[in-house]
Amino acid sequence: MSFPPLRDELVGLEPYGAPQLDVPVQLNVNENPYGPSPDCVADIAAAVADAAGGLNRYPDREFTDLRTALAAYLSKDTPHGISPEQVWAANGSNEVMLQLLQAYAGPGRVALSFAPTYSMYPEYARDTNTEWVVGHREDDFSLDLDRARALVEEHRPAVVLLPSPNNPTGTALPPDAVGLLCAAAGDGLVVVDEAYGEFRRAGVPSALELLPAHRNLVVSRTMSKAFALAGARLGYLAADPAICDGIRVVRLPYHLSAVTQAVALAALRHEKELLGRVDELRAERDATVEWLRAEGHEVADSDANFVLFGVFGDRHAVWQGLLDRGVLVREVGPDGWLRVSIGTPDEMKSFRLGLTAVTEENQ
Ligand SMILES: Cc1ncc(COP(=O)(O)O)c(C=O)c1O
Repeated sequence: MSFPPLRDELVGLEPYGAPQLDVPVQLNVNENPYGPSPDCVADIAAAVADAAGGLNRYPDREFTDLRTALAAYLSKDTPHGISPEQVWAANGSNEVMLQLLQAYAGPGRVALSFAPTYSMYPEYARDTNTEWVVGHREDDFSLDLDRARALVEEHRPAVVLLPSPNNPTGTALPPDAVGLLCAAAGDGLVVVDEAYGEFRRAGVPSALELLPAHRNLVVSRTMSKAFALAGARLGYLAADPAICDGIRVVRLPYHLSAVTQAVALAALRHEKELLGRVDELRAERDATVEWLRAEGHEVADSDANFVLFGVFGDRHAVWQGLLDRGVLVREVGPDGWLRVSIGTPDEMKSFRLGLTAVTEENQ
C-alpha cells in the first residue's frame, strides 16, 4: 500500500477545480464580472472591522441575523414567504449540499441526478459513501419526465439533485417537473439547486413557490453568482425546518465565521446594487446565444449566466486557441462542447473575436 494510506476510492484522483490562470479575460467559472461599488466595499469593510473587535469569541453558531436576512431576501420569490427556521447556510452551496448528503444520504443510500450535470455532485456522493446513480438528459438537455420518474421510482434515492438552471447546459426545469419528482421521491429529498436562479428568464418560476406543497423539497441558492460574492463563500437553502434541524446535527460547530456572517449581511444590505447587473448579464447572454447561432454553432438554450456551445471535433484545440488569445473558457460538458461565462461587453467582444480567429484557423 502506498503512503499515506488514502481511502482506496480516492487513490490517483485529482482535486476538483477549473484552472486558475492569470489571463485578461476569465470566463470559465460563472462568476459575476462586476465587483462591488466603493460604497458597498466601505460597508463590508466597516462590518468586518466591527466583527474583528470580537474575534476572540466564537461566532453565533445559529447565525440568527443572517438567517433572518436570507429569509427576507428569499421571501421576495414566493407568495408564501420563507421563515428564518426554513433557512440554512454554509460556506458556499457546495458545502450546504455536502452537509445535506452527510445528514440524509451515506452508506446504503442513493443520490441521483441526470447527466450532463454539475460535476461536483458525484463528489458529494463519493465523499459521503453514498451510491451514485446517474440518469441521462435528452439530446436537447431537457429531462424526459416519464423516464426521470421511472428512474427515481426504481432507485428510491435518499437525495435527488436537480440544478435549475442546469450547469453546464443552462437548461431550466419545466414548472411541472419539480412537483412530479417530489411525488415520485416519496420520503427522499429533492434538491432544486438554483445557484443560477436569479438569471432565469421572465416567466420561469422559482421552486421556492412549491415549498408548502412538498415537505421533501429543498431549494439551494448561493451568493456566488448573481449576487457577485463568490469570494465570500456563502451558500444557503430553504426547506422544511425539520430538514434544517437534521443538517445541524452534522455541521461542524461555528462553521460560518463571524467575518463571513458580517460580509454576507453587509452584502444583503446592498442587494439592489449587487443584483443590479443581472438584467445586463441576461441581455448579454441572449446576444451571445444569438451570435453563436449566427456563426453556425450549436447552442443550448440558457437561463443562466453562461452558454454551452459546440460541437467541435477537437474542443481542446479551440479552448487552447482562445487561451492563447487571452480568453479562458471551460472545457466541460459532453464531448465537443465548451462553456463560456457571461462577462462584460468588452470581455464578450474579446471572446467573439477570439473564437472567430480560432475557428478560421482550424478550418
Ligand atoms: C449548479 C451549481 N451548484 C452549486 C455551485 C456551487 O457554488 P458555491 O459553492 O460557490 O455556492 C455551483 C458553482 O459553480 C454550480 O454551478
